[in-house]
Amino acid sequence: MPATVVIGGQWGDEGKGRVVDYHARHCSIIARYSAGTNAGHTIVNELGKFALHLVPAGIFHGDKTCIIGNGVVIDPDALLAEIAMLCERGVSTARLLISQHAHVIMPWHRLIDRADEALRGELAIGTTGTGTGPAFHDKVARLGIRVADLLDHDTFAWKLKHTLEYKNRLLTALYGLPPLDYQTILREYISHGEQLRPYVADTIAYVQEADARGEMILLEGAQGSLLDLDTGTYPYVTSSVPASVAAGGAIGIGLGPTAIARVVGVYKSYQTRVGNGPMPTEIIEGPAMEMLREGVGGVAGTAEYGTTTGRARRVGWFDGVLARYTARINGVTSVALTRLDSLSAFEHIKVCVAYEVDGRRVNTLPATLTEAQRARPVYEQLPGWRQDVTDVRHLGDLPTHARQYVRRIEQFIGAPVDMISVGPEREQAIVTRDIFGVSL
Ligand code: GTP
Ligand code: IMP
Ligand code: MG
Repeated sequence: MPATVVIGGQWGDEGKGRVVDYHARHCSIIARYSAGTNAGHTIVNELGKFALHLVPAGIFHGDKTCIIGNGVVIDPDALLAEIAMLCERGVSTARLLISQHAHVIMPWHRLIDRADEALRGELAIGTTGTGTGPAFHDKVARLGIRVADLLDHDTFAWKLKHTLEYKNRLLTALYGLPPLDYQTILREYISHGEQLRPYVADTIAYVQEADARGEMILLEGAQGSLLDLDTGTYPYVTSSVPASVAAGGAIGIGLGPTAIARVVGVYKSYQTRVGNGPMPTEIIEGPAMEMLREGVGGVAGTAEYGTTTGRARRVGWFDGVLARYTARINGVTSVALTRLDSLSAFEHIKVCVAYEVDGRRVNTLPATLTEAQRARPVYEQLPGWRQDVTDVRHLGDLPTHARQYVRRIEQFIGAPVDMISVGPEREQAIVTRDIFGVSL
């Protein structure tokens, strides 16, 4: 059976965690394939509200295998805390597997993440400060330490010694920070490795065998296509290798690209962005900004503040130009449109249909920051519905103007909206087509 990838079509935080939690019921494996602790997935279910950074959102379905794949970078401290939190709250992690090939976030990565942002000055990205970026830099620089290394104490001691000599020179000479102590890190990370050992496996072989047996595999993306290193608004992007877009799904778990048969694009009903970089439809002040950020008219307690950092998310109208672009980059076959409830208080809703740059109408975002900042959105205005939609479960029960809005978004993306999310909870959704071919 083919694999399904769930990706973010904007700048992350579209609600992928929530969509994966919903679809997990039809799959036997749910796997993260890229990013690291920078990701923050919020899941609300019968056990309460959870913020997951590394563990796949399928963990709440007891009979599923959840995998942290080879494409992920793991902060052992953060992962152990996440496992402990889940166990305390009654969620079993007995079926969690961690790839031996995944890279490890080391103490210098967190220090360098923050110090580097300060050093960049005006070029700062607004990272999550979790060390994820520097861990990917080391992966590409071939200086990374992998999970398998942690479990082989001799290899780890040798690698740590030489890597730390290199990193301490960097920390002291470039960043003006004190050097890190070899023995302290050795002890701490060997202990982390031993605690993680029961979960570590050859996940590539595991997934390939499951695929050969015809099992359904759900690949859970992190961040969004506009934060991707290649396809995003560079340099204001994240640094996942493999990419956070759908094509990275195969590499980050160890399958061939032909194993991927479906791509679910998760799009928020408007735009949000955390961190720096261009955002043509951003609303920087006024009542519309307040309403979008605080989720006025939608489910209370779901205001737009970052899951990982708590930072206020920048907000703006749905950008049809960028939605079309990311749908094509990912080969989206099905759309999950989230947070429709958060638009319920508006009398009019805008969508961006093109940009104007220096008097010219264009259908793509210019590549440089200065030019992108001159891109003025051309808006189309649609009527709002001004009605609570959080209890709607059938398309026919949605107000006419809400249905019109969904259809308009479908036209930009060029793929059917099969799921409309009207609240953060698992069943707060209108599912019009079951993408796994299971009848509704
Ligand atoms: P990243 O991997 O960090 O990009 O995150 P994500 O795509 O999993 O999204 P995240 O959980 O960070 O943010 C989505 C937020 O919206 C969470 O607070 C969810 O609980 C909430 N949410 C998801 N769907 C809906 C919805 O339909 N309505 C409302 N009101 N909230 C929603
Ligand atoms: P980094 O991934 O921590 O290096 O951050 C790089 C950029 O990606 C910053 O703009 C972050 O705000 C953004 N980013 C990273 N992870 C997420 C996420 O999970 N949701 C939203 N934005 C993110
Ligand atoms: Mg998030």
